[in-house]
Amino acid sequence: MKKFYGIGIGPGDPELLTLKALRIIKESDIIFVPSSKGKSLAKDIVKEYLAGKRVVELNFPMGKENKINYKQAAEVIYKAFNEVDVACFLTLGDPLTYSTFIYLYQEISKYGIYVEIIPGITSYNAAFSRIKMPFAVKNESILITDKNIDLDEINYIDKIIFLKANNKKDIIKKLNQRGFKSYYVKRCFLEGEEVLMDEEKIKKDEDYLSILISIKE
Ligand SMILES: C[S@@+](CC[C@H](N)C(=O)[O-])C[C@H]1O[C@@H](n2cnc3c(N)ncnc32)[C@H](O)[C@@H]1O
Repeated sequence: MKKFYGIGIGPGDPELLTLKALRIIKESDIIFVPSSKGKSLAKDIVKEYLAGKRVVELNFPMGKENKINYKQAAEVIYKAFNEVDVACFLTLGDPLTYSTFIYLYQEISKYGIYVEIIPGITSYNAAFSRIKMPFAVKNESILITDKNIDLDEINYIDKIIFLKANNKKDIIKKLNQRGFKSYYVKRCFLEGEEVLMDEEKIKKDEDYLSILISIKE
């Protein structure tokens, strides 16, 4: 049976790939990777496992509307199945968490291709391991978001995880007033990784690959 895998490759360290992810990468006839401006971080992360493999970059410009690109990518993948039986698409972190794969999956499904999804370690789970704080303990509520939220409506929340946070100054100020302390993990498990706890430094950093974690004290 022809099969298409969506594979989560974790936050960046190749040793954080699951054994299943690694096996399927090795068994795939074609490996599709997302790229933007000619660069593919997913491809770089798994490069040691790609020797002799057929790798195809699918262009999804970062920060742009990619509706057409998802449709075109799905068509490319569908056509590839004329020649091969097993193909996969690699995605950073987990494939069903704020991921390009979600939109690609919707388009691929229209072709009736059988899809299996392999979970990966999310960026925020990895980030908690770096700040050495529990992600969740009994009776806690956690909010994970990639949008601007109304911070007046968070009374019952103990921890907030902001992906792609771009208004950190405002968030940190408001959450300070509500008794939260903020942590920032940049390029987690990648070259240039930094863990910041100094809120003034956090406010100034603008790396796209960063997570802001705010914890009620
Ligand atoms: C499109 S989302 C991808 C999320 C990913 N699928 C996951 O499971 O974590 C991109 C956002 O994830 C976060 N991110 C992904 N990888 C990261 C890393 N290695 N270090 C820090 N943040 C990361 C950043 O907030 C970034 O803006």
